[in-house]
Amino acid sequence: MGRKLSGRFIAGMSVTDALAACDHVNREGIAVSLDSLGESVTVEAEARASAAIYHQLLDAIHERGLNANVSVKLSQMGMDFDPALAERIVGEIVDHASQVGSFVRIDMEGSLYTEATIAITERLAARFPDRVGTVLQAYLYRTAQDTERLLAQGIRIRLCKGAYKEGPDVAFPTKAEVDANYVRLMKRMVTFAKDGSGVFCGIATHDEVIIEELLAFVRTNNVPQTAFEFQMLYGIRRDLQRQLAADRFGVRVYIPFGPEWYPYFMRRLAERPANLIFLLQNFFRA
Ligand code: FDA
Repeated sequence: MGRKLSGRFIAGMSVTDALAACDHVNREGIAVSLDSLGESVTVEAEARASAAIYHQLLDAIHERGLNANVSVKLSQMGMDFDPALAERIVGEIVDHASQVGSFVRIDMEGSLYTEATIAITERLAARFPDRVGTVLQAYLYRTAQDTERLLAQGIRIRLCKGAYKEGPDVAFPTKAEVDANYVRLMKRMVTFAKDGSGVFCGIATHDEVIIEELLAFVRTNNVPQTAFEFQMLYGIRRDLQRQLAADRFGVRVYIPFGPEWYPYFMRRLAERPANLIFLLQNFFRA
């Protein structure tokens, strides 16, 4: 039952399912980031098993010529019990990505991971320039500073609003404040990219008002379309994904897959009450 409903947001359970979804999305002129779902692992064998899937994905992307990169979570690679192990494992994935001309995005988790995620990304980016980047969340007060910190080092940022439950001690409490911060940071990033820095950025949102604001901003300020791409989640606003791609903007869809779908699915439900209504309607129909 849950598995059937999760199919709205998750491409399937296996690498084969993920690659098929990737191929399908690529055929629409849209790039992909593949995410083998998993987080908070507690033993090394689990972390190694997660990493093995990423190595398999990178080989498959390369062999099939797919337009895709990968997104990983540090807690999936052992961050909770051995941060040095997690850094080593992700480093091996980035090394592999650089050998096959791909890219690794280190997803951002709850605020307890923020500093460590940025620091690990910085160390890996120093070893593998342009092959690794991370995610910043507009709901955190610290993100304006983190944006400058990463831009100064030429590290690619995916900007999102933030999906974890955070307190007012670290995060803006209202949606209006988060949205305003998002707009501020997004403009800063594309302006920096425009000014010849070469730091390409990912604008990860489905918020049409914000997307319209960016489109107006890039028109007025002559920001080239090659300075940024839009990023959206699999199964959310496919109409908008296709429209932006048809308008010749770079669009990348984040495709999650795998049996560890539950926490990801719950975050997607929490984002939008209508998703819960959809879930309940299907529950009573089933
Ligand atoms: P907002 O929540 O304001 O939604 C705007 C509109 O988008 C809604 O009105 C609706 O139309 C649509 N929408 C949004 N969410 C929906 C949903 N779940 N179901 C149906 N419609 C929905 N977060 C994080 O903390 N760390 C990370 O690493 C990432 N990575 C990431 C990658 C990519 C490619 C994306 C797009 C997002 C993330 N996120 C993330 C998640 C992000 O922080 C955020 O929670 C969601 O994108 C929802 O926020 P929006 O910006 O879409 O705006």
